[in-house]
Amino acid sequence: MPTAVRSHAKINLGLYIGAPRPDGFHSLATVYQTLELYDLVTVTARPAAATTLRLTSNDSRVPTDERNTAWKMAVLALEALHCTAEVEIHIEKRLPVQGGLGAGSANAIAALVGLEAELGITQNLGAPGPSHLGTRDSWAAKRLELAAKVGSDVPLFLIGGAVLGQDRGQQVSPLPDFEPVWCVVATPEVGVSTPQAFRDWDSLCAAEGLTAEVSADKLKELSRAYASAFADAIPEGRPGGSSGVLLDEENLAGPKESALVRTGITSWIENDFERVVFPQHPSLAEIKRILSGSGTPEAALHASLSGSGSALFGLYRTRGDAEAARERLRGAGVASQLSHTLPRAKYWREMLLP
Ligand code: C5P
Repeated sequence: MPTAVRSHAKINLGLYIGAPRPDGFHSLATVYQTLELYDLVTVTARPAAATTLRLTSNDSRVPTDERNTAWKMAVLALEALHCTAEVEIHIEKRLPVQGGLGAGSANAIAALVGLEAELGITQNLGAPGPSHLGTRDSWAAKRLELAAKVGSDVPLFLIGGAVLGQDRGQQVSPLPDFEPVWCVVATPEVGVSTPQAFRDWDSLCAAEGLTAEVSADKLKELSRAYASAFADAIPEGRPGGSSGVLLDEENLAGPKESALVRTGITSWIENDFERVVFPQHPSLAEIKRILSGSGTPEAALHASLSGSGSALFGLYRTRGDAEAARERLRGAGVASQLSHTLPRAKYWREMLLP
């Protein structure tokens, strides 16, 4: 029986980048937030004498070989489990392929979750049997390590909800979730290359004299600010906390004061990529302005580029405010999707399709 898995998108609530490191990466501090939008990943797997993989997609832009993150994840997981299997993965694309929404990274985790379900891996953990499977905890740690090998923003999808990302983005820790808020994702035609955006950031650092020491201190301080804002504003256990709340899809008249605002972070978070991406693509800065709707009653709680783009998002108190933003985007000829933020409990509850 194939296993169908929802592969959700993420946005970045603020993204601070440090000076370039000797290993070619950049330290950063960000809060990833999963969204209800998803690709659908279907996995079929059965133990076999040798491993064979077949990957297909409804979107011709998705690589169907070892360059695909889902392929890489499946190979690494099977190796770590000392398992050989015939595996088929189908990726039904609904999210933009290169959008700053972490779609490819999420596909890797969806493939892993599907593979585990197909091979009965999680059920067997801790049960008497082959010792290489180890315990549930050791496999949980191993999955994080393998996910980080596939890409810097893959591990966040092993947590879901609001997630603090540090180091090169792969070091993740869960934050208390806030109540879901409406989110409009704008998907402009423009493509932004992430490695190029990082190179442009390096030029900016050189021009501004940002050193590794100064940026390391700044990132530490920002990570603390994120953690304390969430901890103070959203104590564990209260509605909207990590237990998650069910969203009233039709009538999410946003809370009078969203917990997102209560954290205070909407007043100070920024995405550093905007500083290098907007000058090169002024149309993206204009889309942020449209999403913001500043000075109107339907203004966004927060609007920003996601990752290095080209997707941008706006967060809104009510569905009406979100629809008004979509109308403004339509007027400017920009495609968009309506969604909402997805707390951790709901992320996991709804990941496997029945
Ligand atoms: O880890 P990932 O495969 O997503 O990284 C792709 C590229 O993005 C890296 O090769 C690097 O150039 C850049 N990157 C970076 N700093 C990060 C994450 C990615 O410079 N924290």
